[in-house]
Amino acid sequence: MPYKLLFVCLGNICRSPAAENIMNHLIFQSNLSEQILCDSAGTAGYHIGRPPDQRMTITAAEQLGIKLCGQARQFKHSDLKNFDLILAMDRANYQDILDLDPSGQYWNKVRLMCDFCLSHSLKEVPDPYYGGPENFNHVIELLLDACNGLLQYVINQKLVARFE
Ligand code: 4NP
Repeated sequence: MPYKLLFVCLGNICRSPAAENIMNHLIFQSNLSEQILCDSAGTAGYHIGRPPDQRMTITAAEQLGIKLCGQARQFKHSDLKNFDLILAMDRANYQDILDLDPSGQYWNKVRLMCDFCLSHSLKEVPDPYYGGPENFNHVIELLLDACNGLLQYVINQKLVARFE
């Protein structure tokens, strides 16, 4: 069974699709595409069905040479059961996810994305939606750092047994 990661932001058009596609890029480079699967979702439903925001797409292409694929969907309760680890971009996303699980059954699956940063010290991935190009650049840089740390974490903590 592959290990399943879900990236969650508010609209699922800026931060979480960027995280999903950056992570897939790193997973592919590490030859782990069969072992680790990624998806993304938004806590809000404003942009359901839309592709990633063009500003994020252009920035990811310019900075990393990757294409952002996907269609926005809304986070749903069954995601808590179906994914192994759920990465919230900011504290509001984190709280909105936990609010769907009042019993706390899945709380240990939900983490802040920035917990996995290797070199940045920010605690949240800032929402770039109302920002300018520098905000989108910053998101990509931060997500690349967090995705590198996350990949190390998944390999070290969760996949070791399956590789042995
Ligand atoms: P995201 O960015 O949560 O990173 O996808 C946003 C996208 C849309 C909105 C806010 C943030 N919005 O208010 O429509």
